[in-house]
Amino acid sequence: MVNWQKKHILGIKDLTRQEIEVVFNLAASFKELSQREVKKAPALRGKTVINLFFESSTRTRTSFELAAKRLSADVLNFSSSTSSLSKGETIVDTIKNLESYHPDILVIRIGYSNSLYSLSQYTSASIVNAGDGANEHPTQALLDMFTVKEIKGTLEGLSVLIVGDIKHSRVARSNIFGFQKFSSSLRVCGPPTLIPYEFHKLGVDISYNLDECLPQADVIIFLRIQQERQTSSFFPSIREYVNNFSLNPERIKRTKKDCLIMHPGPVNWDIEISSQLKERIHPLILKQVENGLAVRMATLYLVGTQKGEYENTD
Ligand code: CP
Repeated sequence: MVNWQKKHILGIKDLTRQEIEVVFNLAASFKELSQREVKKAPALRGKTVINLFFESSTRTRTSFELAAKRLSADVLNFSSSTSSLSKGETIVDTIKNLESYHPDILVIRIGYSNSLYSLSQYTSASIVNAGDGANEHPTQALLDMFTVKEIKGTLEGLSVLIVGDIKHSRVARSNIFGFQKFSSSLRVCGPPTLIPYEFHKLGVDISYNLDECLPQADVIIFLRIQQERQTSSFFPSIREYVNNFSLNPERIKRTKKDCLIMHPGPVNWDIEISSQLKERIHPLILKQVENGLAVRMATLYLVGTQKGEYENTD
């Protein structure tokens, strides 16, 4: 039996360590299910999941869609570019309209940080955050941590380094909140202009020198330079960024032999990571994507079947 009380999954900050472990246990079962010939479970039969993506996505949107289908839900995909938003309809009115279909779960990606709790007032459905502005991307952190645990066997006491555009990164914030719940130490590294003061208050070490950080790290998460969120230039040139913060064949020699080098995707090859390392690094990044499906099945299962105690999948 699984005891899960949360209606929504809006951020890792709100989840307890025990709740994260519930997600991991379920994700492991669902990963096993995805390796069977018949990759389907009836857990969400009769439920309706709407994927509402107000920002572009490949990994998160496709994995939530497939996750919902593997759990036998009815799935509706909403994309803002082909919707009446382009005719001036508001986000709130869009949600009110979709509420007419009595959905059970809304998976929402939106550009506005911390907007999902307010939007939850306009629907009786559970909301799963698929990324809200620069605030949180909880299922990304869950799949990152699940992947690390799968390989390292533990999340306890690891040294986790997050490199790049920290300022605009919901992935950084969710991973910081998540790994800290397992007593891992966190360090962020990037240009000073991309590490805002609030990160000093999150209990993380801060460094502006990647070469110094590399030898200590058990896990390194490289982040995408989010040019679409940068309203001004935060560093003089891409060339300078690459010189200081890109992982290249020389720099990788400074990392531990068993260091996990990860990236949430999409990767700007030759900016965050040299394409000369693609063959070596891409398999783990694709493992993250594979695990994203299992983790998202777990989150949909939890918010879609509960209100109290729920049966496990097996
Ligand atoms: N990591 C991630 O959120 O990727 P997408 O933007 O493709 O969903």
